[in-house]
Amino acid sequence: MADRTTEVDQSQPSIARVYDYLLGGKDNYAVDREIGDFFINDLPGSVAIASANRQALVRAVDAMARDGIRQFVDLGSGLPTADNVHQVAQRHSADARVAYVDSDPIVLAHGHALLATDDRTTVIQADLREPEEIYDHPEVRNLIDFDEPVGVVFSAVLHHLNDAERPADLVRWWMERVSSDSRVYISHFRSGENEQTRLAEQKLQGSFGRGRWRTDEEVIGLFGDLELLEPGLVHCSLWRREPGPGDGDAEVDVHEGDLTVWEQLISCALARNP
Ligand SMILES: C[S@@+](CC[C@H](N)C(=O)[O-])C[C@H]1O[C@@H](n2cnc3c(N)ncnc32)[C@H](O)[C@@H]1O
Repeated sequence: MADRTTEVDQSQPSIARVYDYLLGGKDNYAVDREIGDFFINDLPGSVAIASANRQALVRAVDAMARDGIRQFVDLGSGLPTADNVHQVAQRHSADARVAYVDSDPIVLAHGHALLATDDRTTVIQADLREPEEIYDHPEVRNLIDFDEPVGVVFSAVLHHLNDAERPADLVRWWMERVSSDSRVYISHFRSGENEQTRLAEQKLQGSFGRGRWRTDEEVIGLFGDLELLEPGLVHCSLWRREPGPGDGDAEVDVHEGDLTVWEQLISCALARNP
């Protein structure tokens, strides 16, 4: 088992809290804001990655729920924010069940507060590099029936694993254990092989010793033999984009060239067992 503390350490930065800061949350400390401010001030526009990622996650859970998925395992779930996975899924089906998993103790603390009144959700502290521990966890087993389809969510988390940690093996591990008709959703930092990507990767590696901006080929490689569903791997801002209230058709007809450089640096795809 990886060395894991249940105490929130305010002297060390945390990926979950930096991300919370970038999304406008309040669950962060000075040490997190220093890293967040680097992205805000030194890489202007980069915060668009966080919001594009969250919006795509909402659409992906919505799409899985429409496909009949009623249970989700959200790996590297992060701190509660607006429109969490269970809230989106339960709009479709009140009995939708979600197991949230994160290695950061702050997620457990805040997750329990948010989910205290919802007996169809749980949050556990675990490291996604140890999938057996998650799969066999009693709280996960209580909630998730692995003989029924599951939506396995890796939203903005596999880029926090270095290549030596073999993220593609983790995806395969889960998809070999869930029933056919399950889904896996991955969103991932996309390398533009440009200066922005180089600086951002340098900052994450320097702060956390992890953080990989992978090329499209590398991200597609994470899906292994799975069948990518329409539209395949695309920028999060383009993935099954739908008209919002007041949107005209023209606004929905968005192409890569309409996106900022930063919006082009996060991609996602939804896949199923072939
Ligand atoms: C960028 S946030 C993404 C949060 C959420 N999935 C989303 O897309 O909005 C990455 C999350 O992954 C968690 N994380 C990073 N490495 C992890 C690991 N090895 N095991 C479990 N969680 C991890 C972090 O603590 C953080 O909460």
